Amino acid sequence: RKPKTLTTIQSLYRRKEPITMITAHDFPSAHVADHADMDMILVGDSLAMVALGMSDTSEVLLEEMLLHCRSVSRATHSAFTVGDLPMGTYEIAPEQALESAIRVVKEGRVKSVKLEGGAEMAPTIAKITTAGIPVLGHIGLTPQRQNALGGFRVQGKSAASALKLVHDARAVQAAGAFAIVLEAVPAEVAKIVTDALSIPTIGIGAGSGCSGQVLVQIDMLGNFPPGRFLPKFVKQYGNVWEESLRAVREYGKEVKSRAYPAVEHTYPMAMSREEFEEF
Ligand code: KIV
Ligand code: NA
Repeated sequence: RKPKTLTTIQSLYRRKEPITMITAHDFPSAHVADHADMDMILVGDSLAMVALGMSDTSEVLLEEMLLHCRSVSRATHSAFTVGDLPMGTYEIAPEQALESAIRVVKEGRVKSVKLEGGAEMAPTIAKITTAGIPVLGHIGLTPQRQNALGGFRVQGKSAASALKLVHDARAVQAAGAFAIVLEAVPAEVAKIVTDALSIPTIGIGAGSGCSGQVLVQIDMLGNFPPGRFLPKFVKQYGNVWEESLRAVREYGKEVKSRAYPAVEHTYPMAMSREEFEEF
């Protein structure tokens, strides 16, 4: 398989072929995403919750993102990789953002960065892209701003907020972003935004009218204990939790009953027990 580049993403968009994207946060989750031929892999800061057990994304540090980006990059041979800029590493000034983006690319070894925000982030996006680092925008529900948004709520429901999404998307595009994530936006509004742009939209909870889709891998694999809240847009394509639980329980039982390890899991001695005792 050939490494996918920005050109690959642009040609998928031109051909109107949906772009596939999934998150990964470590070596095995990146391996599976890459082997499944995803077009893009996102080292999303959602790893704060799904991989590190934090309560929200604001807790994750740049150093932590760098470690996860590096491990994902080592397993990725084909997909185009994107690393999230954590909250607090890009909002102060475009120079701060560029410094963080350079670290994510140089030390994290990913090909591009993602940051949250609309028109107000345009100078920042321009700063990073003119330095030669591709930027993926992210508008609609922006989890790093959850306290200002009043929680995880659908964005762009009213005419005024839908219009603001179009303005934000256009500003992010004009600033040089190569694509924009649209999160938790009514499907019709996502279609309007997509039609207003000449770069791809990557939807999550934004309907099938986007140019591509992204999901959090842990969520779509069902790799979490039962009872966890999942947003409406998550489709569970597997039940990795059940399979892992079954396997670990069976291992535990077999150790208790001495069924494991069996003879085939052991190494032979070079002599018999009797020969050893005489030795
Ligand atoms: O952090 C993340 O996983 C994301 C995607 C949900 C777009 O930002
Ligand atoms: Na994110």
